[in-house]
Amino acid sequence: MVVAIPQTEFKPFLVSAPGKLILFGEHAVVYGKTAIAGSVSMRAYALVTPRSDSKVRLVLPDISVDVQFDTSKLPQLNPSELSHPCEVENHVGCASVPEGPGRMAVLTFVYLFGCLLAQKPTKGFTVCVRSLLPVGAGLGSSASFNVVLAAALLQLSGQLYKDGKSTADRQLINEWAFAGEQVAHGTPSGIDNSVATYGGFLAYTRGQKPQNLNSSNALRVLITNTNVPKSTKALLAGVRSLRDKHPQVIDGVLDTIHSVAISAISLFESQGEDVEEKLQDIIRLNHGMLSTLGVSHLSLERIREITAAHHMASKLTGAGGGGCALTLVPSNASDETVEDVKRMLAHEGFQCYQTTVGGAGVAISHCVGAQPIEEWVRSMLDRQLSLAPSTKSEDAGYGGVVSAFSILPDTAIAKLAP
Ligand code: MEV
Repeated sequence: MVVAIPQTEFKPFLVSAPGKLILFGEHAVVYGKTAIAGSVSMRAYALVTPRSDSKVRLVLPDISVDVQFDTSKLPQLNPSELSHPCEVENHVGCASVPEGPGRMAVLTFVYLFGCLLAQKPTKGFTVCVRSLLPVGAGLGSSASFNVVLAAALLQLSGQLYKDGKSTADRQLINEWAFAGEQVAHGTPSGIDNSVATYGGFLAYTRGQKPQNLNSSNALRVLITNTNVPKSTKALLAGVRSLRDKHPQVIDGVLDTIHSVAISAISLFESQGEDVEEKLQDIIRLNHGMLSTLGVSHLSLERIREITAAHHMASKLTGAGGGGCALTLVPSNASDETVEDVKRMLAHEGFQCYQTTVGGAGVAISHCVGAQPIEEWVRSMLDRQLSLAPSTKSEDAGYGGVVSAFSILPDTAIAKLAP
């Protein structure tokens, strides 16, 4: 059993976690099939700073959330007394939770605080979360948010013994981040939070320990954001109702997706010359299956057409219905070809990033000595950003987002001063 050591005094710290790209097996994973995912270099960052009063404040500048609670007004929650974490809605009492896009994030905060800290003598603190991940695009922005939040609150509750680096710490972060995902999405599989926690490449089957894939081959991919908003909850519900109506047919589709993921595991582990060609095949097959489940979108089909004309295979990634597509960039594709594809995708109004998959998972960094906080945050961000595998063209693609994030010291930190 973990014995909590409540921390009443602490120095500011920064938690970061990556987004994820599902390579194979989305949706089927909800029904116990295997999926393969990898971390992407875009991350979420939570800066945690102490306050001199007993209030807790959650600041999410990217979605205009800034809420503050008196710790005594937040409910103490016992997870075993709730039938599902989303029941937190019925326990918020007089804590005012805003309507709109930030509601789920605030409810998750209330849930995790209520379970992890409400019963402990906690000094006030502020958590400010910023993210480089586009929201609602299938890149796990919600999971990386839940991972940084769970890690931050576990760290404050004294339950992490190795700053999130040990297997036990990571397991705990992952469990609580999953509860946060349940508040937001109802019935998620747990794959998104597992990738954001552990990083690298994972084979994930619900209820089993995620299996790290020893892939030496970082995959070069294009991630294309259709900018078409989607609701993971609604897409999950759509597949569920199709399966309720046609169980045999849909179970057959889900089984085929599972076979695709199993083939991918052996391809990741093999070194044969035809690996890339076979990966392209199964990317196409997997997209076809997802389309059969009704989770594709015209914008995603357009991306498939454009990339196929350049001999590149694409599939939707994440929940679908818009969001993002991934395209495998073959090793023999010239820079001109890749630039051509990117130009054509941009012409359609899509945003396209070139990146590799498989960087670091959750990380906690402490402010040391008397370093001014602004300078420390800047240096941490530089270090965290460079943790992920990156290429020159990727840096160029992310330049706008990265520089947008560097406004953090000027706006959020100024607001954060207790
Ligand atoms: C969402 O990124 C992936 C889905 O399979 C849902 C889930 O696994 O929770 C669609």
